[in-house]
Amino acid sequence: MKRIVCLISGRGSNLESILRTAEAERWEAEVPARVVAVISNRGDAAGLGHAATRGVPATVIEHQRFASREAFDAGLAAAIDAHAPDVVVLAGFMRVLGASFVARYTGRLINIHPSLLPVFPGLATHRQALAAGVRVHGATVHFVSNEVDGGAIIAQAAIGVLPDDSEETLAARVLQREHMLLPRCVRWLCEGRIELVNGRVAVRNLPPDALALVG
Ligand code: GRF
Repeated sequence: MKRIVCLISGRGSNLESILRTAEAERWEAEVPARVVAVISNRGDAAGLGHAATRGVPATVIEHQRFASREAFDAGLAAAIDAHAPDVVVLAGFMRVLGASFVARYTGRLINIHPSLLPVFPGLATHRQALAAGVRVHGATVHFVSNEVDGGAIIAQAAIGVLPDDSEETLAARVLQREHMLLPRCVRWLCEGRIELVNGRVAVRNLPPDALALVG
């Protein structure tokens, strides 16, 4: 049984998509894999409610309670390691993690980012996309590396940008795709269909177009 730990900071809709998909696809029997814990760095994260609804144990590790970034990373790692995870998912986790944290989880730590990386790393990606005037936008799931939003790309989902799109309408359409993309990637990682090898993503037993969701 592959053990998944999800890290969140807020709304938790990506967490909810993982939990919902895991139930619908019967991951415990079919993969097998299970989300064993949810950890939030904010006590007021709405996503904690999704964990409670689905009966997944949740812990809050508030970053403000730690004297330094390193101390927070160490506290977070201890909380994660208590669950002996095979896969750690940053599902809307909004803290930058330090090099030793990243090294500890290399190859089993993935993130979802709301742009077609490598364009528009960082925050306010939908605003960046509208300002740049791009016609195609989307979301990326990638392995986490020391470069923020810079790790090896696993899969991407693309949507068209419409002439009258606002940040909100664009965000909503990208989010729909995020909810399709992230659960698939988590499942494939648990199944060993994707793997980080020498900084690149190795793929096996997946259809050629599985990692590119277009339209
Ligand atoms: C998502 O857009 C995700 O890509 C980004 O933060 C947002 C989190 O949303 N990293 P939610 O908490 O999963 O609803």
